[in-house]
Amino acid sequence: MTQHSVICPGSFDPPTDGHINIIERGLEIFDHITVAVAINRSKKTIFDPNERVNMLSELLKKHANVEIDSFEGLLVDYCKKKKINTILRGIRTVSDYEYELQMSLANRILYPGFETIFMMTEGRFSHISSSIIKEVISFGGSGKSMIHPFVEKKLREKLKTELTQKN
Ligand code: COA
Repeated sequence: MTQHSVICPGSFDPPTDGHINIIERGLEIFDHITVAVAINRSKKTIFDPNERVNMLSELLKKHANVEIDSFEGLLVDYCKKKKINTILRGIRTVSDYEYELQMSLANRILYPGFETIFMMTEGRFSHISSSIIKEVISFGGSGKSMIHPFVEKKLREKLKTELTQKN
């Protein structure tokens, strides 16, 4: 049997329970998953790439067949370098589908033979996004059922530091 590796890329700013759910369900199907933190200097992020990699490493440490990495530039170039030709993405809503369709078609033009596998996000995670979570926590709400308590702690610390720096 051939080993099938996939890449699970994203901003993960911060990683949510929805992201982890897709990765863990992916592990039921694929032999190895590379979770790749995208470094996009034009997207304003609250956590730097190392912090995002560290949070993912903590959340996924029990899985020996998960590798956490980061990349800058085109995803397809990173995949070629890693010799991976399949990407795993979660879809929450119809608007996700439109965005994902464009990305998967563009990626296939850039890297013929490159495949995107979509997994439907579980209903309980379909309303979650990293931006919504940042807003909830910044207004003192709870991250329960959306982010791991460890991520919630990091996010609270980060938002507190940002607020202190602004004042
Ligand atoms: N559960 C919960 N939330 C989810 C989720 C899930 N299963 N899947 C995605 N999200 C949320 C994220 O939290 C994020 O929320 P935010 O917009 O509030 O921050 C949003 O959906 C999109 O996030 P993500 O999945 O991280 O995608 P992205 O759009 O930030 O990045 C890349 C997608 C990294 C794959 C893409 O930008 C890329 O390939 N970049 C490299 C450059 C490149 O090759 N570009 C050409 C592509 S054709």
